[in-house]
Amino acid sequence: VSVSLSPPAASRAEVALRDYRITVSPGLLATLGATVRERCPAHRYALVTDDVVAPLYAEAALSSFGDARPTRHVVPTGEHHKTRERWALLTDELLAQGHGRDSAVVALGGGVVGDLAGFVAATFMRGIPYVQVPTTFLAMVDASIGGKTGVDTAAGKNLVGAFHQPRTVLADPATLATLPPAQLRAGLAEAVKHGVIADAAYFEQVWRDGPALVAGAATRGGEPWVPMVARSVEIKASVVEGDEFEGGIRKILNFGHTLGHAIELLSGFRLLHGEAIAVGMVLEARLAERLGLAERGTAEGIARALQALDLPTRLPADQAPDAVLAATRTDKKARAGAVEYALPAGIGRMAGADREFGIRVPDEAVLAVLGGEAR
Ligand SMILES: NC(=O)c1ccc[n+]([C@@H]2O[C@H](COP(=O)([O-])OP(=O)(O)OC[C@H]3O[C@@H](n4cnc5c(N)ncnc54)[C@H](O)[C@@H]3O)[C@@H](O)[C@H]2O)c1
Ligand SMILES: [Zn+2]
Repeated sequence: VSVSLSPPAASRAEVALRDYRITVSPGLLATLGATVRERCPAHRYALVTDDVVAPLYAEAALSSFGDARPTRHVVPTGEHHKTRERWALLTDELLAQGHGRDSAVVALGGGVVGDLAGFVAATFMRGIPYVQVPTTFLAMVDASIGGKTGVDTAAGKNLVGAFHQPRTVLADPATLATLPPAQLRAGLAEAVKHGVIADAAYFEQVWRDGPALVAGAATRGGEPWVPMVARSVEIKASVVEGDEFEGGIRKILNFGHTLGHAIELLSGFRLLHGEAIAVGMVLEARLAERLGLAERGTAEGIARALQALDLPTRLPADQAPDAVLAATRTDKKARAGAVEYALPAGIGRMAGADREFGIRVPDEAVLAVLGGEAR
């Protein structure tokens, strides 16, 4: 992975992965069609988006294709539409519009659209190319990178899917102007995670610069976001390139997510993913300290950063420790019945390199952290 920021104002960043490029550039939506046609040539295109993003950005995206205007496919917004039913409806729409093996999919939206449209692309005619055009901070720095696509089922999130790498990822941070601040802050939790797992200096930058970025998002345009989006993209891309199918180092991206997913689930998804992960990171860092894996003060440092970003750091009062522990066992990351944690050694460094970054932890330690000083 290599990254280049173009001078003087770092107004555009290119991150080169082994097989494709990620471009972060405010205003790129205006020339989306030309870039997609160059990096992902296809006979025809199908643009998939949701009904919140469509009125904001679909027309700009569609008309940028000129005479190669894509067909337009709009799904209702929200996680509860990331389903096999929507996958089937979309697939049928593509078939009805005469799309074939020589078509490509353009996913314009947040992670829900990216995962769903990516899964359509992964399976349509046994797989056609696609392009990710993420419009949430979370999708720019996380969901659009790494090639995981899929849908939810009644039994849980992301249980049916496929690995399918996009031909390119085109992120236009100007689209963040319309994203609700709570969504921006929740996305920043993943940027905090990137700092903890890989880069202490970036960790500092995220919590120091984040509040001003959120406050100015609606008025200052996309440029102030470029360095942060680029660094997070670079960290996530480096990790997944090292481990495309999640055997080893990719697990470090799960920091905060073993407990975070359980907390998200128990909240009935009232907490945003990033909010639940924020709590999960603090608790898991405490766990790491308790187990003697992490330097003292790691959890406190993470909690302070998250508080600066107005993110929660405590287990919700209505969540009982044993319920949270039980919920970790239903997570698909559990292996052979054992729940694994990705735990920090300090800010910027992960523990457990000797066991592929998947650390098994005694229940007593988890319960102690959930019930103890965390409240
Ligand atoms: N594939 C992966 O590796 C991966 C990684 C992390 C998360 N995910 C998935 O991503 C999803 C979460 O992504 P998300 O947080 O982007 O959620 P989302 O796609 O639901 O978007 C959040 C909300 O913002 C709206 N929206 C999107 N762009 C907007 C814009 N520019 N302006 C205004 N509103 C906008 C959406 O309509 C939605 O209501 C989850 O389904 C999660 O499982 C996937
Ligand atoms: Zn996450």
